[in-house]
Amino acid sequence: MRSIMVLNAKGGSGKSVIATNLACFYALDGANVVLADFDPRGSALEWLAHRPPTRPRVQGIAAWRGPFRVPRGTEYLIMDSPAAVHGDQLSALAQRAAVLIVPVLPSPPDTRAAAHFIEELLLVGRVSRRDPSLAVIANRVREQTPGFQDLERFLKRLAIPYVTALRESRNYRRAAERGLGIFELAPSLVAPDLLQWRPLLDWLEHNRRRGC
Ligand SMILES: Nc1ncnc2c1ncn2[C@@H]1O[C@H](COP(=O)(O)OP(=O)(O)O)[C@@H](O)[C@H]1O
Ligand SMILES: [Mg+2]
Repeated sequence: MRSIMVLNAKGGSGKSVIATNLACFYALDGANVVLADFDPRGSALEWLAHRPPTRPRVQGIAAWRGPFRVPRGTEYLIMDSPAAVHGDQLSALAQRAAVLIVPVLPSPPDTRAAAHFIEELLLVGRVSRRDPSLAVIANRVREQTPGFQDLERFLKRLAIPYVTALRESRNYRRAAERGLGIFELAPSLVAPDLLQWRPLLDWLEHNRRRGC
């Protein structure tokens, strides 16, 4: 089983969007997918509640309620995490996953907060700087803006993989409102978004082959 967690202490950085879209991608691929929501706000499970029963199934778990059993036969465990996780709670969360993805928004406060968060993650999450199972992605970017250029400079300086930048796109909301992922919208609508997801999906696949 592959366990992938999306985390960043900053609310609104796109954790739930990325977790639900990853769950959707693997379900479309025919895998047995569980989406565990560690956030008591329950955004990931809310997405699931809107998901049409005709779409490839993703099974939800309200992980914020406490210990849970991962169903037998699960191939992908995708975990969404709450905002404001630090210290022991962060350490406990981070150790649940083989792969950690940190989305960061292109604003000076978000970039500063991400710097602290990643430092804490490396420290308390016992994640090594060279560990291939930790990656950052830029999210909600508008290219050619100073905010994005500053964020890219920052992410490229980190000694951990910076795998992709996802643009600001109404498609995420459009899909989420219907319990879908962007992979399930009209290809002509989402072609630029899919191109941006490719490096993340490839990086995850590369890690899988290496046994992470
Ligand atoms: N790439 C994106 N383009 C446009 N809107 C986005 C994008 N990523 C996230 N959003 C929106 O930003 C808001 C916060 O995203 P969310 O995934 O809920 O963040 P978090 O889970 O980190 O709090 C949501 O309304 C979501 O639809
Ligand atoms: Mg969320």
